[in-house]
Amino acid sequence: MGKELREKGYMSFSSDTAVSMIEVAQKIGKIFRVPTMPLVQTLTPRQKENELKNTYSGNFGLDDFPFHTDLAHWYVPPRYLFLRCIVPGPDVATKLIDSRDICGDIDADIFSRSHFKPRKRLDKAANLLKVKQGEIFRWDSIFIEPANSNAEMLKLKIQDAISNAKYISLNLDRSGQCLLIDNWRILHGRSAVSKKSMGRRIERVYFDEVMI
Ligand SMILES: [Fe+2]
Repeated sequence: MGKELREKGYMSFSSDTAVSMIEVAQKIGKIFRVPTMPLVQTLTPRQKENELKNTYSGNFGLDDFPFHTDLAHWYVPPRYLFLRCIVPGPDVATKLIDSRDICGDIDADIFSRSHFKPRKRLDKAANLLKVKQGEIFRWDSIFIEPANSNAEMLKLKIQDAISNAKYISLNLDRSGQCLLIDNWRILHGRSAVSKKSMGRRIERVYFDEVMI
């Protein structure tokens, strides 16, 4: 991992719009294939009513997407999240919070005593998850849920810390604009989508490893 990514937990840069996402991505890292998704996923604003409840759009539609890390309900979520703008949404902001800013005021003990589980998992033997697990930080207010009373308390503390945290607001406002995020450290969210931003198109891949 390069210095900028290691220090900030994310980096933003431009790419040549004549080059495909897959080619850009292959130069950056080792693409991680999510079994149920295409290798490159296209993100567009969606009306809540038309979407499945196991997606962010099915829960929040065009409203703000709350801060989360991706695939937080997996035992080991993908390490990096890479977004590339195809069509900008003029007034849509991507927002980032460094988990180090929100964990600092929470007692380390409560993290180790708090167990979460994937939402709606029928398999009772499913792994219990910790918000901080080795190098991994995960957070998602809908896809993981508290499995004990410590976790109920931790959830309140994290939500409170998120609402008070300073966040970085970026706009993927040019075609080819890229954002690489350490998904084990940085929470991301998205502002609401207005009518004029309905054409927004972002492509996404996940990486296990990156070369930059
Ligand atoms: Fe996400």
